[in-house]
Amino acid sequence: MSSHTSQEYVGLDVLDYEDRGRELSELISTKAGVKGLVDSGIHKVPRVFLSSADVKHQLERTSYDGTGNHVPIINLKDYEDKRRRNIVHEILQASKKWGVFQIINHGVPSLVMKNMLGCVYGFHEQPKELKEGFYSHDSTRKVWYYATVQPVRRAAFWKDTIACQFEDMTTDFEALPLICRNPMSDYVKHIVELKVKLCKLLSEALGLESNHLELMECMEARKVVGHYYPPCPEPDLTLGSAHHTDPYFLTILLQGDIDGLQVFNQDQWIDVQPMEGALIVMIGDLLQLISNDLLRSVEHRVLANRIGPRLSAACFFSTNGRNKDRKYGPIKELLSEKNPALYKEISQVEYYKHYSVHESCGSKSLPHLKL
Ligand code: OGA
Ligand code: NI
Repeated sequence: MSSHTSQEYVGLDVLDYEDRGRELSELISTKAGVKGLVDSGIHKVPRVFLSSADVKHQLERTSYDGTGNHVPIINLKDYEDKRRRNIVHEILQASKKWGVFQIINHGVPSLVMKNMLGCVYGFHEQPKELKEGFYSHDSTRKVWYYATVQPVRRAAFWKDTIACQFEDMTTDFEALPLICRNPMSDYVKHIVELKVKLCKLLSEALGLESNHLELMECMEARKVVGHYYPPCPEPDLTLGSAHHTDPYFLTILLQGDIDGLQVFNQDQWIDVQPMEGALIVMIGDLLQLISNDLLRSVEHRVLANRIGPRLSAACFFSTNGRNKDRKYGPIKELLSEKNPALYKEISQVEYYKHYSVHESCGSKSLPHLKL
């Protein structure tokens, strides 16, 4: 990998230089991800990671928006009885204004969360020989481990990921690397229970019957990813993850105690402070679409850090195989003459394709589906 001096590339668009393809293939062929680079002792961020779009982001950090508010924190305690109406209201406000909120007293035991991050750490920290068999960029696999090396337009990300997708909760767990099997299956079971609760609360927030979203069968499949963001020698030159929205319905995210996650709100990047015991809920593009813009999907990114590794686990909910071609559009019950449908109908599979095209250019894809 070639290196450079920090000043040399700041502000320059370096994504189209001649050796880029070769440098990316070299990185892929190591099957050791970004962690492999860091372990080899590099002091400079290699060119393929240089992100020209977001220089100086490290200087402008804040956890508050223009009106002094932070990402909402919602306490789910007693959600089944006396506090339900308030909680539903808080979820609606947070999803409208931010598209993201943290939840506490959500019922997922702290040990289960700790073990989940523990196995993400454990997987990535294994000797290379034990994880390289999982290295792949084939997202149709049940389990795959990779560095994010977008081939077009965007710089590579400063992170490694293990991804797993579950259709059938009883047999698929067998495909997991041994070190992840028990912690991840426990975690996923709890997160699925939490998703069921959240679906009810979100249905009510939309003014629908509690079981409305569940009956739509749009959040049945789950993909779980465990991100490992290695310490970065030059954190202001690259990103752990470039800005994006999630192309699914709902995301439940667990982050460790190192910050870096930011959400875009009112023209500003705002830190999502790590909070012990909390989980982060994010509205995905397709929930924005079916809610006809009542709920909004949140744009977010992850900064690189000098310290690390930063760990996180995201669980994405989308339609499962059975419904993969089923088209989803704005929910009929939400529409009226005054509030006509804003989007065309689309299936999860089609949306993902559409998203991939726009995402690789760094642009939002949902607006392209407006009627
Ligand atoms: C994602 C994501 C954020 C994080 O996986 O889509 O945005 O904190 N992750 O790792
Ligand atoms: Ni995301």
